[in-house]
Amino acid sequence: MTATPSHSPGSTTPSSSSRASAPAARLHGIKKTYFKPDGSVLVEALKGLELVIPRGEYIAIMGASGSGKSTLMNILGCLDRPTSGVYELDGAAVESLGDDELSRVRGQKIGFVFQAFNLISELSIAENVEVPLLYQGISAADRRARAHDALKLVGLENRVHHRPRELSGGQQQRAAIARALVGSPAILMADEPTGNLDSHTGQAILETFEELHSRGLTLIMVTHDDRIAGRCQRVVRLKDGELESDRDGGGRRRVTEAVR
Ligand SMILES: Nc1ncnc2c1ncn2[C@@H]1O[C@H](COP(=O)(O)OP(=O)(O)O)[C@@H](O)[C@H]1O
Ligand SMILES: [Mg+2]
Repeated sequence: MTATPSHSPGSTTPSSSSRASAPAARLHGIKKTYFKPDGSVLVEALKGLELVIPRGEYIAIMGASGSGKSTLMNILGCLDRPTSGVYELDGAAVESLGDDELSRVRGQKIGFVFQAFNLISELSIAENVEVPLLYQGISAADRRARAHDALKLVGLENRVHHRPRELSGGQQQRAAIARALVGSPAILMADEPTGNLDSHTGQAILETFEELHSRGLTLIMVTHDDRIAGRCQRVVRLKDGELESDRDGGGRRRVTEAVR
């Protein structure tokens, strides 16, 4: 974890198109409503969320099943758009972008890590990590170099030619983290990243996140585990599509809590 790659994923240097003073993410009055086919309201999954995530923050999102965590992550990750409200990612409003623009922004600004790793079994580890760079006009040599840098950052530089099934679960999740970092995202988003790992391996993944955080990366993680959340800087809890609480990792209240 002491690698200093030339291309430095997870470094403190903001990406060239970001606005240095802007927060990593700012949500203002974000609503997400799911409608029935007849146009009537099915579910108000998010009910006017206010949330500012400063650059470099390490934040846990918690809440019961159905509270809106995935909906929030999908909006933050530009996989989905809010029904109304303002979302600024890395200083630029994204809620009004078209589908193509939204997926371009997603590719440039967001790295995803999933509970199930989601590596492509037919590709080597290095090829998996190169995938996010494929349609960005980057030469094959540069792709290889950047994939190698990202894999070195997570301690997998000796596994580049392996297939996913030849690695342990923890190593596969490291490869997935390298893939998420290879494009130098503004935010790394992780949905239950240790959910499929034994606790020892999960600890090692959390140490990797803490290392990335210390390098200045912004990390947003969904977790159900209070001990994991307690290692984050900030813990945001959702309830029925609203902010229930917003505390620092030590459990201290950060802002006035939402009236329940
Ligand atoms: N595509 C969808 N269509 C209709 N309702 C949805 C859809 N996705 C989520 N919901 C509803 O929105 C609410 C929040 O869901 P979700 O964000 O998945 O919660 P969580 O991730 O916290 O379990 C739930 O009531 C869920 O049933
Ligand atoms: Mg969910």
